[in-house]
Amino acid sequence: MNLKDALAAGLAKQLGHPRGLRGRLVGALLNRANSRPVTGAVDALGLRAGETAADIGFGGGFGLALLLGRVGPAGLVHGVEVSETMFARATHRFARADRLRLHRGSITDLPLDDASVDALITCNTVYFVADLDRACAELARILRPGGRAVVGIGDPAEMAKMPFTEHGFRLRPVAEVIAALESAGLVLTEDRRLGKSERGFHLLLASA
Ligand SMILES: C[S@@+](CC[C@H](N)C(=O)[O-])C[C@H]1O[C@@H](n2cnc3c(N)ncnc32)[C@H](O)[C@@H]1O
Repeated sequence: MNLKDALAAGLAKQLGHPRGLRGRLVGALLNRANSRPVTGAVDALGLRAGETAADIGFGGGFGLALLLGRVGPAGLVHGVEVSETMFARATHRFARADRLRLHRGSITDLPLDDASVDALITCNTVYFVADLDRACAELARILRPGGRAVVGIGDPAEMAKMPFTEHGFRLRPVAEVIAALESAGLVLTEDRRLGKSERGFHLLLASA
């Protein structure tokens, strides 16, 4: 493997599971690079004060801060992360956020009760999940009836242009992600695009 490939493979690994000092830097990078799609996902939830929200695979935690602001002091936010580094970073950053519950765990086995969440986002996570059906079933399980989910994914054709995605990313057709949400019992209400291009980021809005 040449140096360029090695760097791309290293970045891909960190994006899928940030670890150590490099992982902390990746967390900061994610917050900057993904601020627009994550803000779009949170906006699409239409949260009301006092609701319970969740960010699954929160990475650098940008989405957690937004969700906390939207649900306010009477609401509750759950953050779930598989990465110990991201979990520790958020624990430190949000030490004073008493309306936030952070959990170590996977989207395929969520450490949250059935029907315990009004609305959730998961952005840029499903590329790293082998069992998408299981992940979607877990999202459906934790949503209360009528609850809302936004699954954010880059357009696969655009993502494929980024060299690091060759290294282990699962760039599924959008229709496959929608089918997995629907087979979990969620109803797709919109495939919202960010930006005007046909290649814009997808926000898949679904309800339970
Ligand atoms: C590319 S980052 C995206 C972070 C953030 N959602 C964003 O859009 O900026 C992917 C994140 O998903 C997390 N992740 C990967 N597999 C996961 C899983 N099975 N369950 C929960 N989180 C996972 C990673 O640890 C990483 O923090």
